[in-house]
Amino acid sequence: MNKPEKRSFKNKLALGIFAQNCSSGYTITKSADRWVPSWENNLALAQKADKIGIDFLLSIARWRGFGGQTDPHGSNLETFTWATGLLASTKNINIFSTVHLPLINPVYASKIMVTANHIGNGRFGLNAVCGWNTVEFNMHGVDFNDHTRRYDHGEEWMTVVNKIWDSNDNFDYAGDFFNLKNVGLQPKPLLDVKPLIMNAGRSDRGLDFAVKFADYIFLGLRDLSSELVAKDVGLLKKHAQKSGRNHLGICTNIFIVCKPTQKEAENFYYEFAIENADHEAINNLMAERGIDKLPDKFQEAFKIRAAAGHGAPNIVGDPDFVTQEIIRLHELGIDGFAIGLFNYIDDLDFLSQTVIPQLESLGYRKSISKAD
Ligand SMILES: Cc1cc2nc3c(=O)[nH]c(=O)nc-3n(C[C@H](O)[C@H](O)[C@H](O)COP(=O)(O)O)c2cc1C
Repeated sequence: MNKPEKRSFKNKLALGIFAQNCSSGYTITKSADRWVPSWENNLALAQKADKIGIDFLLSIARWRGFGGQTDPHGSNLETFTWATGLLASTKNINIFSTVHLPLINPVYASKIMVTANHIGNGRFGLNAVCGWNTVEFNMHGVDFNDHTRRYDHGEEWMTVVNKIWDSNDNFDYAGDFFNLKNVGLQPKPLLDVKPLIMNAGRSDRGLDFAVKFADYIFLGLRDLSSELVAKDVGLLKKHAQKSGRNHLGICTNIFIVCKPTQKEAENFYYEFAIENADHEAINNLMAERGIDKLPDKFQEAFKIRAAAGHGAPNIVGDPDFVTQEIIRLHELGIDGFAIGLFNYIDDLDFLSQTVIPQLESLGYRKSISKAD
């Protein structure tokens, strides 16, 4: 088994930007100012994030949108080419392709990834997902409805890729999903540093997969109460330790609205996420994820968070509040934050002048001049 050694971002409290390769980003809003995932916007954002010492960019792998009036995610940039283009245009930041493993052959993918690894001087990362959206898989003619089989396939996929990267001798591979002859590819990852691997499995099967192959796992939080976060972090660590992993990094996905005052942040949030929520698209997302079958109480709570963060928890407030919330979650065991923002470029600019310097001066992050 290819258990990853302990590998991590430069900052103990890592900050990342999430979902910027998709239309509307991490929102479901009718606001005319919603995010447009043009190459120009993605490049400007990546270069800004790189300059201010953000640790990673994380894409979403999507093939269709959620419909409604605005079709969020209906337009999105493919993640291997997106990451490779951005790696060529940045210097320090890690950039993650999110990839549906069932949709691409692992030999082909390992070649793409090692090429991105060389172009980015070791900064390419893989968010390995096994998929959840049947309609998307049907677009590809891939019939993979059984959850356990998707992860069984993912395990073989990761095993083949690791073997290609690790082995200098050609090998045959005979499994349930792949029957490969005389496999051997050059070049290997630069300086023998394999791409960082992320995974967002939530089920027991998904967690087993993550523990086996990932450097960082996403812990999806239902709310941000200290009690719940500590409990979920504890359960995840226990699961990892049972499988012999003592150093699994934990990330969470979150939506942040940060404005000069609490009132301004709340007003801004109200305008795009409550007044202008695209309810039809939210209902579609809930139906596709099966959330419409859950108890009413859970559905109502999800609907409130859906327009900002697709159901992920929100931090809405002034810079002091946002800083303190990030620190509180970090102290509870969250190593990294994949952050959704309304306007990634303007909002990251504001965070770089307010929250990030506070995190640096309090010693949670290296200041950018001392980052290397
Ligand atoms: C931060 C985060 C990012 C994710 N990105 C994607 C993605 O881009 N594409 C996708 O199909 N699934 C994505 N997922 C879904 C997960 O891969 C996974 O299917 C889901 O969390 C359910 O877990 P399970 O597969 O263990 O049931 C993401 C989940 C999270 C929390």
